[in-house]
Amino acid sequence: MHPVNLPYFDLILKALAAGDIPITTAFGRHIHWGYWPEPPRHTPTPEEFAQAAEQLTHEVYNAGLVTPGQRVLDAGCGFGGAIASLNENLTGMDLTGLNIDPRQLAQAQAKVTPAPGNNIQWVEGDACALPFPDASFDRVLAVECIFHFPDRRQFFQEAWRVLKPGGYLALSDFVPQLWLIPFLELGSAFQFKPGFYGGVNVRYAVENYRALAADLGFKPHLERDITQNTLPTYDFLFDLGGKKGIDWSQWSAFYQTLQITLASRLHWIKYMVLAYQKPEN
Ligand SMILES: C[S@@+](CC[C@H](N)C(=O)[O-])C[C@H]1O[C@@H](n2cnc3c(N)ncnc32)[C@H](O)[C@@H]1O
Repeated sequence: MHPVNLPYFDLILKALAAGDIPITTAFGRHIHWGYWPEPPRHTPTPEEFAQAAEQLTHEVYNAGLVTPGQRVLDAGCGFGGAIASLNENLTGMDLTGLNIDPRQLAQAQAKVTPAPGNNIQWVEGDACALPFPDASFDRVLAVECIFHFPDRRQFFQEAWRVLKPGGYLALSDFVPQLWLIPFLELGSAFQFKPGFYGGVNVRYAVENYRALAADLGFKPHLERDITQNTLPTYDFLFDLGGKKGIDWSQWSAFYQTLQITLASRLHWIKYMVLAYQKPEN
């Protein structure tokens, strides 16, 4: 087993290496849920899913008010999709993608070439112990990855430390209703080994985020519930899973995706974009 235990990434990396076209189209750039401005009337294709994934990235970096000429850190950068998008769309950027998984960084490095006038660095490291000096970034992003990090408070403290005064932190996360948390805690107490999605903590409500931000001194900038705009992704995932065939070794893939599908459709777990500002002084 690789030291980074994320079975879904093992599967995707294997499919990429095998040249699997639907998986490469859907997940070769971004590994996240996707934002659908209008739900399609049919089961989404991999190409449509890739567009939705690109759109989610825009929703997050627009929430963080990313503009040309900034130093931006993307923590938990996956295959570098957010960095690639910023590199394609903005000029004068100094971009850093950080990931705990060197295999993903190797993919990112191979695929993303800095546009003229932009710099890109890929750094192996833990988002909760950022290997960067204080006040070194204008923006910190964390697209759909904070639930894997060892501790949200530690990540927020690190984001605060590396942000310049006036800088923004923007992220997306699965955010449960407060009343659901004791049930989720109970479920996790009985989960003896991580499933397909690896170590995941979706037991942090918007009230917890508000308290954390207030405690550290972050100014809330945006809280946006986009659950409705993520729902077509579930149809896509089940359609793809069906076509690929689900075997027993991947049973938790089906079971865990079903759990999050039901919780999202019932609005028990919301998909949110959140952004905070480190005040000027
Ligand atoms: C769902 S993927 C999202 C990837 C990327 N942000 C995207 O949207 O395409 C979660 C990412 O978090 C990374 N990750 C997990 N734990 C981490 C940690 N402690 N520090 C840095 N990255 C981490 C994983 O390797 C993976 O790339």
